[in-house]
Amino acid sequence: MNTREMQDEILRLKKDKNVCILAHAYQSQDIWEVADFVGDSYALSRYAASVSQETVIMCGVRFMAETVKVLSPQKRAILANPLAGCPMAQQIDQKMISWLKDRYPEHTIVAYINTTSALKTAVDVCVTSSSAVHIINNIQNDKILFIPDKNLGEWVEKQCPNKQFAFFKGGCPTHMRMRKRDVDQARQLHPNAKLLVHPECLSEVTELADFAGSTTEIMAYARESSEKEFIIGTESSIVQHLQFECPDKQFYLLSRECVCHNMKMTTLADVYQCLLGRSGEEIFLEEHVIQGAKRAIEEMIRLGQ
Ligand code: 13P
Ligand code: SF4
Repeated sequence: MNTREMQDEILRLKKDKNVCILAHAYQSQDIWEVADFVGDSYALSRYAASVSQETVIMCGVRFMAETVKVLSPQKRAILANPLAGCPMAQQIDQKMISWLKDRYPEHTIVAYINTTSALKTAVDVCVTSSSAVHIINNIQNDKILFIPDKNLGEWVEKQCPNKQFAFFKGGCPTHMRMRKRDVDQARQLHPNAKLLVHPECLSEVTELADFAGSTTEIMAYARESSEKEFIIGTESSIVQHLQFECPDKQFYLLSRECVCHNMKMTTLADVYQCLLGRSGEEIFLEEHVIQGAKRAIEEMIRLGQ
């Protein structure tokens, strides 16, 4: 079977079996082409709350499949590749969050959505990179404890000058590999290119960027810009998608280190095998986890309107 034939089979099977395929923006182009919806973490969460099909296959990482289960508990939520997990979601556990709560009793706890559902039960509200500034500005309390991504938190802090922030020292291992020296080298090689980066990058990188935003915000910026060349400081797949979407423009990856092995784990063949019931992992969560995590995610959707 070649790629085209497998895609055709996937499209036929998902229709026959009433399955919805969701894909995060970091998934590969062949998966994008068979998905019902592709988006950044915020758009995926909003879409997951309103899916009409019985079964949802998530092509992304584990916390994204958990979010589908939390928002649509009556549906079957399947993670296309059970090995795909976000290392940042493992950086804080229940013991650590209890310690943080004792240390910052007056703070509203704002958790990046890249956390486990169990952890979400212990926080006040979730945010994503595209919704964090708006949501935090809508929180009444001036004291914010932002977990676990310190780089995203510091980027948000600069745009919320009326809030006092405390941080946990976590972050995305993929985006943290990009450094100022990569920016210097890329700018030298491509002096006319605009630098577009994800706010999970270190501040030494975001401070030098022409634009920082979520995966789909970076894509929208490049699509709508009249410029012709762009250096992309996020997971390498976004360069590939932009090359498909804007063939008249040129895109360069900021660093060859910017590869998320977890996001790369899911293949088109995994999606096909999932539809045949031979692969993937159905997500099961305890009722109290669903209820607790749902409160934090729904608060994100409410404050993000
Ligand atoms: P966004 O899609 O919200 O930009 O998140 C990026 C990311 O690293 C997801 O794991
Ligand atoms: Fe996690 Fe970073 Fe990979 Fe996103 S890119 S899944 S935050 S490790």
